Amino acid sequence: MSTFKQEPHKLLVIPGPIEVTDEVLYANAHPSMSHVSPDFIPVFGDCLRMTRQVLYTADAQPFLISGSGTLGWDQVSANLVEPGENVLVLNSGYFGDAFTDCLRTYGATVDELHAPFGSAVDLKTLEVALHSKSYKLVAFTHVDTSTGVLSDAKGIAEVVKLVSPDSLTVLDGVCSVASEEIQMDAWGIDVVLTASQKGLGTPPGLSILVASQKAVKVFETRKSPVTSYYASWKKWLPIMRAYEAGSAAYFATPPVNLIYAYNASLTAITQKSPSLADRFRLHKEASARIKSAAEELGFRQLAVDAALAANGMTALYFPDGLVASDLLPRLAKRDIVVAGGLHKDYKEKYFRIGHMGVSVVDAQRDDIDRVIAALKESLAEAKASKNV
Ligand SMILES: Cc1ncc(COP(=O)(O)O)c(C=O)c1O
Repeated sequence: MSTFKQEPHKLLVIPGPIEVTDEVLYANAHPSMSHVSPDFIPVFGDCLRMTRQVLYTADAQPFLISGSGTLGWDQVSANLVEPGENVLVLNSGYFGDAFTDCLRTYGATVDELHAPFGSAVDLKTLEVALHSKSYKLVAFTHVDTSTGVLSDAKGIAEVVKLVSPDSLTVLDGVCSVASEEIQMDAWGIDVVLTASQKGLGTPPGLSILVASQKAVKVFETRKSPVTSYYASWKKWLPIMRAYEAGSAAYFATPPVNLIYAYNASLTAITQKSPSLADRFRLHKEASARIKSAAEELGFRQLAVDAALAANGMTALYFPDGLVASDLLPRLAKRDIVVAGGLHKDYKEKYFRIGHMGVSVVDAQRDDIDRVIAALKESLAEAKASKNV
């Protein structure tokens, strides 16, 4: 174990990127390595295997590619949908709009079911839509980072399987993987796409996507050419399979150092304490603490129902009479960095706190207490300064 310690810094509690451990940062500082070195190949291979573990899947195919979460949308759009095919997007906020935009860019015909603000699309509405038209793919945002709303992944997959068993279920898990439980095989999710910088506790820069064998088959039997060069699974499948089998192959240079960092974080998540199941429990507990402290202080959540509230982040309306500039700089002065609003219609009205990864699972840290204390003090100061 290295003695490396990162510099003192403001606590980053936005809904991603999140705080990362010294161990992960130190792994990122690995000396430069060839991406085809025999020493590096098993590091990459283990990342593929451990990614499967986080999603409880035995045989789905992971893709680890330089890029961010957005590249997952491009991969889905370019590899799994052929131009003109029907896609249904369950839109619960900003990231539903963006995924739709991406799908349309590649020629998909997209229908959207819009959830009311602060809510998720209900399963009955999904069922009706699936009865009325046939869809190649149903996509949803597990946690919409713009609202902190959690969709019922298991329920959505169940409805799709029941009403439209040939459709692929695609879960955008950029803000949920490793902070919310996802049972890919048991629930029948075909694609989970995510990124390194949130619950997975690694610096940004890695697009992580896991495709069921059913999805891989849909890709392999597509009739028209893949509509992207860099995002093409024709290029990437042989690379992922080679690294997992213990040999290297080249299409485009992998982010070698980030793979070391990701390996360190995945090792902690899958093999160290707390266990994966406890990790999810701890996210729930930390989330409940922040949410109830915020409510006691008079904040109201965007999520209209407790069952719809994410466990890795919280979105809160500013109290009447206060705006972002009253509260966020006061939190920053106390070394707490939170995020402003993001949803286009409401962004001035609320702010977001991330509580994922090491800030939640490391019992030695007091990140959650610090956030609650700073929120309390900043609110009191802001109210006093504005006489509200
Ligand atoms: C739910 C969700 N999907 C997709 C993205 C896009 O990911 P990235 O910013 O890494 O490209 C984000 C980013 O925050 C997100 O929260």
